[in-house]
Amino acid sequence: MRILVETVNETQELAAKLAKNVKAGDTILLSGDLGAGKTTFTQGFAKALGIKRPVKSPTFTLVREYQTAQFPLYHLDVYRLGEEGNAEDLGLSEYFGGEGVALVEWSQYIKPDLPDDVLEIVFERVPNYDTKRVITLTASGEKSVALLSEMEK
Ligand SMILES: Nc1ncnc2c1ncn2[C@@H]1O[C@H](COP(=O)(O)OP(=O)(O)O)[C@@H](O)[C@H]1O
Ligand SMILES: [Mg+2]
Repeated sequence: MRILVETVNETQELAAKLAKNVKAGDTILLSGDLGAGKTTFTQGFAKALGIKRPVKSPTFTLVREYQTAQFPLYHLDVYRLGEEGNAEDLGLSEYFGGEGVALVEWSQYIKPDLPDDVLEIVFERVPNYDTKRVITLTASGEKSVALLSEMEK
């Protein structure tokens, strides 16, 4: 599924739509360059789940946890691990496929920890347009295929 959004608001509306359809155990990977819109998407997602606490990217920790009525939301941003993240077992797999929903920025640095069933969302800037983004959603695995088809309705 591929969508062109033209404003921050449209990115956050898409995030809200996804938030309405997620279930405990879902893992969502947010990919794209710095400034592409991954954290902005996460903020829209959290807001739609009723999270009042401001959502900032975790910096000193790799994970921030938020409570919602239905499940814990885990926001992982592992940018600071860089390419070396793969070397050690960071124990991050406990955040995936369990009772919470995980959103992961820079997931390419923790590949060995990731589950097979993920929804990947890629954000790309559109040259010469400050607020336009192409957002591509790709499901792999039973749960994420079901999630994406709910979104498409
Ligand atoms: N359509 C859009 N979607 C998301 N962010 C946008 C959009 N248009 C402009 N922006 C701006 O781009 C920046 C994205 O930053 P951020 O979400 O922190 O990116 P990332 O987490 O991918 O590094 C923010 O300053 C945001 O206001
Ligand atoms: Mg970010």
